[in-house]
Amino acid sequence: MCGIIGYTPTRTDHHSNRDILNVLMDGLSDLEYRGYDSAGVAIANASVSVYKRNGELSELEEMVPNGPIDGYAGIGHTRWSTHGPPSDENAHPHTDCDGSVAVVHNGIIENYRVLRDELEAAGHEFDSETDTEVIPHLIETSLEQGADIETAFRRAIDRLNGSFAVAAVFSGSEAVYATRNQSPLVLGIGDDGYHLASDVPAFLEYTDQVVYLQDDQFAKLSPAGVEISDKRGTVVDMPVKTVEWDPEEAGKSGYDHYMLKEINEQPRAIRNCIRGRTDEMAGTVSIDELDGIDRPKRIHLVSCGTSYHASLYAARLFRAGGIPATAFYASEYDAGAVPIDGDTLVIGVTQSGETADTLGALRDANRRGAETLAVTNVVGSSASRETDHVMYIRAGPEISVAATKTFASQQVALAMLSSTLTDECSREFVEGLRALPDQIQSILDQSRATEIADVYANSDAYFVIGRGYSAPVALEGALKMKEITYKHAEGFPGGELKHGPLALVTERTPVIAIVTGESNAEEMIGNMKEVEAREAPVIAVTDSPDVVENYADHILRIPQTAWQFTPILANVQLQLLAYWTANQLGRSIDKPRNLAKSVTVK
Ligand code: G6P
Repeated sequence: MCGIIGYTPTRTDHHSNRDILNVLMDGLSDLEYRGYDSAGVAIANASVSVYKRNGELSELEEMVPNGPIDGYAGIGHTRWSTHGPPSDENAHPHTDCDGSVAVVHNGIIENYRVLRDELEAAGHEFDSETDTEVIPHLIETSLEQGADIETAFRRAIDRLNGSFAVAAVFSGSEAVYATRNQSPLVLGIGDDGYHLASDVPAFLEYTDQVVYLQDDQFAKLSPAGVEISDKRGTVVDMPVKTVEWDPEEAGKSGYDHYMLKEINEQPRAIRNCIRGRTDEMAGTVSIDELDGIDRPKRIHLVSCGTSYHASLYAARLFRAGGIPATAFYASEYDAGAVPIDGDTLVIGVTQSGETADTLGALRDANRRGAETLAVTNVVGSSASRETDHVMYIRAGPEISVAATKTFASQQVALAMLSSTLTDECSREFVEGLRALPDQIQSILDQSRATEIADVYANSDAYFVIGRGYSAPVALEGALKMKEITYKHAEGFPGGELKHGPLALVTERTPVIAIVTGESNAEEMIGNMKEVEAREAPVIAVTDSPDVVENYADHILRIPQTAWQFTPILANVQLQLLAYWTANQLGRSIDKPRNLAKSVTVK
């Protein structure tokens, strides 16, 4: 999804103590993970200089001036196309007719067609096909009518319908003006200057002091400071929060890819997730954030992508503990058609806390009187602010588009949540939880996924099968594979193999079978024999190698653990298999084509 960056230095002599261009370019590079197809920056001085290019950030780097630029303030953008294909013209920033206002925007302006017709009829000339470009022209209209900059900015925003985060700079002005409505924007208060961005990692190297802008608030970042006001213009006092993520955590730390680094961070992420929330002696879990939530009559989980797979796993756990629970794709959640009331707990599972469909489902549930809980990684995210309760998964920043450590942390957080709400906690459960980080470490240290990936990297497709609690992980394993290898991959419960997918199984389609515990081994062995008979190579991910060795070509071992946690361990092998396959194929692992880290439009 699009990424926004903005910066105003505190020095007023306009010879910035930091080069504005560098701050913006660094920020854009930190936002690359969100997914983009073009990028640009604008720096305000006596005039506004705009540089923008289709393609990778390296293309933009080639066109911006070499060496420092003096400027009052700057904005930048990575664009993920919605209105109009990727091109130089459609890249942000966009300007008004005479180039004295530059605007970057994230989100969708639903009424842009009407506004554009109106502006064109009044003589404005447009350079792009984007919805964004109406904003600088609307601002220009008000400026021509004599409004001051701030009033012109507010009036333009007032005309927009849709979801957006917007930032603008003006020729001759030292300030960055910004606002948001259902699209993330966070401000950074540094010693040398003030920052704004779609996400904290974009300025984390300069400051850990942040203010989360709320919907309909306006921010003015000038050398004098940051001023936040509401829709009516009344100044509001917003709390400054300290972000606990450190810049090192947000960097690659010597790994070739963020994804591999994040896979390797899972032991630490899980330790953080359970820290202070378990008592091994008593065999209990206690989650402070859940104070005030009683055992609900039913649970709905709403989520997308990888988070949906974590929700499927959790729904099973809740049901096993006696609470009827269903996982819904957030985009398909029809709260009007399912029973929902004050006894319904609707859990939004979302790493970023900004996924538009998940937020939409949570808002719908809220309106219908359900109690809502966000299970998220991002402190201050929209989901965390808009729900009745929030439980943080504490995975630390995840940069790779393909979610890995946040999935593991979601599973752990949701397992703890389920044990608390269903009152099904036991010493075995807590011991299992506590053992997970070391068990994952042993998989990371000993996995043979690299060799297996090398053998099968040129296969036609991959199938992943599992049963019971491992079925959601089979879906997740296939999702990881398709996201980063660009190969067809499909996950399904083992029992479904005969009902269609078997028609596609050949010697060029490896089948990855998750066989956990002897209890499901018999049925899974049945599946393995079926695919073996079609000459498909079989890779077993298992905690019972002795049981399956006669039916598998390769074995990826996982340690034995409490039944709830086996899928978490199996998933690590699937992550590694996907990673090493994509690496062998030379794919763009951290930024797969067409995908975005955080999908903030519906
Ligand atoms: C995007 C990402 C996925 C993620 C999904 C939901 O599609 O590429 O990795 O699982 O959004 O994101 P969320 O932040 O709500 O967990």
